[in-house]
Formats: sequence, C-alpha cells, structure tokens
Amino acid sequence: MSSIVATWAFSGPGVVTAAGILANGGGALDAVEHGIHAVELDTRVTSAGYGGLPNALGRLQLDAALMTDDGRIGAVMALEGFRAAVPAARHVLDHSPHSILGGDGAAAFATGHGMVAATDTAQLLSPHAKKRYRQFRNGEISPGPHRDHATMPHTDTVGMIARDADGRLAAGCATSGMQFKAPGRVGDSPIVGAGLYADEAGAAVASGDGDQMLRFCIAFLVVEQMRGGEEVQLACEAAMRRVHAADPKCQAAVTGMSPDGGVGAAATHGGFRVVRWRAGTGAEDVQNEEARAVSETTWKHSCV
Ligand code: GLY
Repeated sequence: MSSIVATWAFSGPGVVTAAGILANGGGALDAVEHGIHAVELDTRVTSAGYGGLPNALGRLQLDAALMTDDGRIGAVMALEGFRAAVPAARHVLDHSPHSILGGDGAAAFATGHGMVAATDTAQLLSPHAKKRYRQFRNGEISPGPHRDHATMPHTDTVGMIARDADGRLAAGCATSGMQFKAPGRVGDSPIVGAGLYADEAGAAVASGDGDQMLRFCIAFLVVEQMRGGEEVQLACEAAMRRVHAADPKCQAAVTGMSPDGGVGAAATHGGFRVVRWRAGTGAEDVQNEEARAVSETTWKHSCV
C-alpha cells in the first residue's frame, strides 16, 4: 500500500503534494522530491529552503539528499544561490557519477542542469529571515556556543519517506541547517546513514541537532534494526534510547518506514510530530501526530 511519512507538522503541505503524486500513479522518488520541494518553498518554514535562516554571513546555505531502496543516492551540501536544494540533489542522483556534491561544485552542477541561480543573495532571504539575521548581527540572538548543548540552537529538517504502489521506497531530507551557522557547516541531513537511509529492509529520516547526531548514524541504525527483525516503531524508539543514553542533551528525532509501508516515529524529547498519509484516503487527508519521546523533557525550537 502506498504510504508517506514526514517530519514535523510544517511538512503537511508537502505530504499533500507527495500524496497527490502517489495517488496519480507516480513513484516514491518523485513523490519525496516534490513533497520536500514544496516545503522548501514555503516561507513559513524557517529551517529549509527559501524562508530558512541564513549562515553567519547572511547567506542561505542549503543541504539536501535523496536515496532510493535500490541504492541510488543524490546529495548536495552547503549549496548557495538557490531557494531550494532538493531539485539539485535529484539532478545529482539522476545525472552525476558521484553521490554528493558540495559548495561551488554543487551550484555549478545545478546550474548546468537548468536550475537558475539568484543574481542577488538578498533575493534568497525571506523578510522574516532578513529580520532574524539583523537581530543576530545586533547581538540580540546568537547561534549558540558550539558544542554547548544547553544553549545550542538546533534545526528542524524536513525529512520524508514514501512507498509507492509498486512497493518501492524513497527517502529524502532538506535543511538550511543550524541558524547562523559557520559558513560551510554541514549537519546530518545530506549524509547517507545519518540523515536518511533506504534499502530493502526499510527507510528512515532523522531531524535534530546534526552536529551531535552524526556519530549515531541514526537512519542506518533504525533500518539495520528492522533488517534484524525489529518492528519499525520499536526500531525508532531503540535508536532514540541509544542517543539519549549517550548524550541526554542531544535533541534527536527519527521516523521510519517498513517495506510494507508501516510507519514508526520517536524522539529524544517531547514535541516531535510526524505527518502521515496512506493510500485509500484523499491526498489532503493527512494525519498529524506526536511521536513517542524517550525522555520527559521537551524539544526546544530555535529556528523561529
Ligand atoms: N539536522 C539538520 C542539521 O543539523 O543541519
């Protein structure tokens, strides 16, 4: 059965977009790409694409990745000049002999495949992002001391997984990364195994404090447990328990999908929500629900 799950309530319109593609017979990869792209172009979302908060130089610097269950990968990191990164990740997946392109090389590749770069970097910041950047420059808000968990801002990645009518799985994610990050900083989102993973055993996407989460390879961890026979919800919870036991201040969240389209989700802290859709309901009929948390503490959002 076709199925979709995505991180955070803000992904709702993207899930509707993706559901429309699956409902019309489209494939999982197209659904995930276009679903994430819709979120990237939504200016209300301050942690991905246009509307995302910039780096310390005031530049929108984006990461995105796509992966299919048959092992195709496309990712871009530290991409500048565009309002969205997932279309560039798709070009890498379809047209590059490489899996990940970064920085200027990623931008040149995207341009070479028809993506039009902004002529002025200011065009890439929404009015809200410009205001928040002015506040940052005035010292009214800070990116947080690196590695100081107590005050460190985090980012909320759009991650999405789809299973199509042919039973194929695809996973993807996109983020503008930590607000006011050091130029060139890359978190977990475009890293296969960390931010996303998909193969014949299932798929997973992660969200949270990328600098801390990277070492746990969360998406791979969840899929690997499903390969060992664990049910998807229990696999997500086990991964979050492991993160929380090792680093109680790390905010991490994950959602996974089993090969039959079953969905699980869990987080280290309370407040993580996922948006779900299943075939047999209207494309607009998405469910938004809170995931189980493995601690009593609440998620602190800073990309606002
Ligand atoms: N989880 C996304 C990031 O830290 O960039």
